[in-house]
Amino acid sequence: MIELNDICKNFYMGSVKLEVLKNLNLHIKKGELLAIQGASGVGKSTLMYIMGLLDIASSGTYILDKQVMNYVDDDNLSCTRNLKIGFVFQSFYLLPKLTALENVALPLVYRGLCKEEYIPIALEKLEKVRLAKWAYYKPNQLSGGQQQRVVIARALAGKPLVLLADEPTGALDQDTGKEIMQLFQRLNEEENITTVIIAHDEMIGKACKRKVLIIDGAIKEIT
Ligand SMILES: Nc1ncnc2c1ncn2[C@@H]1O[C@H](COP(=O)(O)OP(=O)(O)O)[C@@H](O)[C@H]1O
Ligand SMILES: [Mg+2]
Repeated sequence: MIELNDICKNFYMGSVKLEVLKNLNLHIKKGELLAIQGASGVGKSTLMYIMGLLDIASSGTYILDKQVMNYVDDDNLSCTRNLKIGFVFQSFYLLPKLTALENVALPLVYRGLCKEEYIPIALEKLEKVRLAKWAYYKPNQLSGGQQQRVVIARALAGKPLVLLADEPTGALDQDTGKEIMQLFQRLNEEENITTVIIAHDEMIGKACKRKVLIIDGAIKEIT
């Protein structure tokens, strides 16, 4: 499903070259629930951006769903991103003026679906995250955990191949964080959705079937 081969990512600060990912290799199969751990600043988000087609590697090959993504143009990248990737970030990025339902429907609106088409799908996804009752509330009327559920429902709305979550519990208290992780586990079991979770938090690692660590720019499996 996902193949990262010999991925390098460098950033340049003036003439200073910062080598963040160094010949990183990672293969992820369909239906996996994977935690990517590592110290702060080690390159977890950088890797997530590459996997999510928000940034490109300096070298190496990235194959997503049998398609080599390296030489794809920007339009094609955003189209693939919209079709294949669901994002869950630490900060929620919900649009404050829209209801939960409208926020969940956004990826479908971008795809050109009309109201009659996207409302039932968005409602179904809100049910999946146990928030159907809150469909017509605005984000600021919801708790942090509920907002993160809306984000997850939005990520699911486009039926992505893979769900990418970057420290999804980072802004939540411990109990709420646990609930969110249980939700990821349930979705992974019920829908067999491939899920990659970046985790600073040890609790997330424990909840995932497979764990890897980024260390010195490369992947180490934790068994
Ligand atoms: N756009 C950028 N320009 C320059 N340096 C960056 C950029 N993005 C990330 N970095 C650097 O790359 C390293 C890895 O960052 P990041 O992937 O955000 O780490 P993590 O998510 O593991 O905490 C850090 O040293 C960070 O400062
Ligand atoms: Mg990060």
